[in-house]
Amino acid sequence: MKEYKVAVVGMGAVGTEMVKILEKSRVPVSELVPLVRSRDGKVIEFRGKSYVVKKVSPGVFQGVDLVLMAAGGEAAQQLAPLARQEGAVVIDNSSAFRMDPEVPLVIPEVNPEAARNHRGLIANPNCSTTQMLVPLKPLHDLFKIKRIVVSTYQAVSGTGREAIEELQNQSKAYLEGQEIEVNVYPHQIAFNVLPHIDVFLDNGYTKEEMKMVNETRKIFEDDQILVSPTAARVPVLNCHSEAINIETERALPEIEEIKNILATAPGVKVIDDVQDKLYPLAVNCSGTDDVFVGRLRKDFTVSNGLNMWVVADNLRKGAALNAVQIAELLVEKGWLERK
Ligand SMILES: NC(=O)c1ccc[n+]([C@@H]2O[C@H](COP(=O)([O-])OP(=O)(O)OC[C@H]3O[C@@H](n4cnc5c(N)ncnc54)[C@H](OP(=O)(O)O)[C@@H]3O)[C@@H](O)[C@H]2O)c1
Repeated sequence: MKEYKVAVVGMGAVGTEMVKILEKSRVPVSELVPLVRSRDGKVIEFRGKSYVVKKVSPGVFQGVDLVLMAAGGEAAQQLAPLARQEGAVVIDNSSAFRMDPEVPLVIPEVNPEAARNHRGLIANPNCSTTQMLVPLKPLHDLFKIKRIVVSTYQAVSGTGREAIEELQNQSKAYLEGQEIEVNVYPHQIAFNVLPHIDVFLDNGYTKEEMKMVNETRKIFEDDQILVSPTAARVPVLNCHSEAINIETERALPEIEEIKNILATAPGVKVIDDVQDKLYPLAVNCSGTDDVFVGRLRKDFTVSNGLNMWVVADNLRKGAALNAVQIAELLVEKGWLERK
């Protein structure tokens, strides 16, 4: 079987997870090239071999077949063209190329076909969009969603390694009565909720919120679908939660039937037994691969409305896992040809 030389750019919260997931994936890897900006020298064990993390340097993508990027938008803008020039296929986690009409934006359970005609670059959607669309896809196919109202409760791991440390340090300082240092977010995150993720735009929404609007339309290939988002950062270490309300064009069946539809959808797990206090929880979902759905109930204020609570590991399905699943898709379909 053909094996691929794979570079992973960025060894932060997402990149580290990506290497772990790649190790167990169905991607045949002949050689791993782990790359960072400055914190080099660490040794990584991967499928029985040791690799030293190196700084990105000229010519580093020579002979590389696949580049998994988890290094931010600026790095992606700079490095993705270089990797493509060397013939590699790039899967990028940043928002740099997501809305480029020439770049497929792919969730393998939702729109795998979009990856078919890639031109050497595929974008991974925003974590909040991905976990929203995995369970909404089967409902959209069957009942046509007209409008989505979503509120997110996003973990600090979504901001990266420094934010995880900031929550831990601030929580400790708060409990010990020490002064709280604020570096990563505009306000204290420990024991707080921030209705502010990424920058504010002229329309009053944040960039994070508008990503959910625009990426949903691109992935569902539906310019009519309405998305009304509010994104909040909560003092949770890992796993984003979302309260999602949908309104559909066609009549929705009973809740039991909706549960059955979701239970058989790829990448979805239903945890919904309120009598037993069972619903998806961030602390239980960390380290898992599925998108968990619970609190399913009809919205009694409209004729075809549904409410749900959705939780997923943002570092895995929201970023690293989705990227590796795209790589598996390319390998399995024979779409990982050097371009
Ligand atoms: N965290 C999430 O849930 C999530 C979800 C979806 C998408 N993403 C996206 O994934 C990307 C990475 O996020 P993260 O949370 O892993 O960030 P992070 O923890 O801050 O790590 C960033 C990594 O990128 C490396 N890097 C930065 N600039 C580079 C450059 N020019 N060349 C090579 N390496 C470079 C850094 O190298 P050094 O170690 O040397 O500093 C570091 O290893 C971002 O685009 C983010 O928006 C994250």
